Amino acid sequence: MTSVLFTNIGELTTNDSTLGDQSVLGLIHDAALVIEGGRVVWLGERNSAPVADEAVDVGGAAVIPGFVDSHSHLVFAGDRAEEFAARVEGRPYSAGGIRTTVSATRAATDEALSANVARLVNEMTRQGTTTVEIKSGYGLSVADESRSLAIARQFTDETTFLGAHVVAPEFADDAAGYVELVTGPMLEAAAPHARWVDVFCEQGAFDADQARAVLRAGKAAGLQPRVHANQLGPGPGVQVGCEMGAAAADHCTHLSAGDIDALSSAGVVATLLPIVEFSTRSPYPDACALLAAGVTVALASDCNPGSCYSSSMPLCIALAVREMRMTPAEAMWSATAGGAAALRRDDVGHLGVGAKADFVVLAAPSYVHLAYRPGVPLIASVYAQGCVVA
Ligand code: NIG
Ligand code: FE
Repeated sequence: MTSVLFTNIGELTTNDSTLGDQSVLGLIHDAALVIEGGRVVWLGERNSAPVADEAVDVGGAAVIPGFVDSHSHLVFAGDRAEEFAARVEGRPYSAGGIRTTVSATRAATDEALSANVARLVNEMTRQGTTTVEIKSGYGLSVADESRSLAIARQFTDETTFLGAHVVAPEFADDAAGYVELVTGPMLEAAAPHARWVDVFCEQGAFDADQARAVLRAGKAAGLQPRVHANQLGPGPGVQVGCEMGAAAADHCTHLSAGDIDALSSAGVVATLLPIVEFSTRSPYPDACALLAAGVTVALASDCNPGSCYSSSMPLCIALAVREMRMTPAEAMWSATAGGAAALRRDDVGHLGVGAKADFVVLAAPSYVHLAYRPGVPLIASVYAQGCVVA
């Protein structure tokens, strides 16, 4: 196996607080990294680096772990540009939101769906994302949910069954019947292709009892729970997630003090999705209150055709800092190690001996530039398991 030394790294973010400056990011200045077999085998100060078979000089650039985007909805067809324009122009618009995408997705061929996911995953990779979670949720029938997950699985192992996104149109007057379908035949068809089960627990989607039923059935089928919670208003989503042992409660835009306590005592990750609030002109979640309570915070894109048609983790970081007052270091950590925690992964989201060699070389001297220079293409190159992918 060939070993490769990446040297002349101006600032290396490791996310290991025992390394370098011992901060939460474990920054090592004037650093080097050796990779072999797709893993990190050595990292430290450049002048103590071991000899390797090959060397790459990154010219003083900053190197960070690849972003871990723990929340996306990439399996869909069509777009909703008209709905977006109507919303931002203040025009009345009564199209069916998620249901518009459900119709387009059902009508699309497997090839078209797969090509759309490939396009978006490629877009993410070019912006520094090396691990992505992908949900179903625009099929809402047994066949369309299971094919959505089979397609997602071609791109990632982090696939999430979200049959409980909204009640399918055929069940408009029979939500209970739809929950039976989701927890029965749909789950059975979806489970072989999924690692996670998710539910949109929100007024207009699924209530607390329905959400519990979905998560309980998913767990019985071997899936691990996560939730869409407290996005549009206060509600029971976060509490249900905590009670059901969810890895993460996502959105968390409208939280009570009790919700924050529950996240903190249950050790559930709060995944914040600030590009949703940016795109829908909504109030941002209170990241500082979550961090002050000791809650693990992740940042993710939520890339989807409705509330957030952006796959950009650098934008997510810039908004977290500018709009949610996270420090640049907190945002950097949450977009990498936080995402890994939300997916219960210890092999990604950090750079240390044994970790996957998933990293990004920035066209900047420091990770701080991700927030300091919003909208600027700072991703110089991206490596996944040691191979250049962008
Ligand atoms: O995470 N909250 C539910 N689902 C998506 C929106 C999906 C859509 O509008 O198509 C979200 O924001
Ligand atoms: Fe979502």
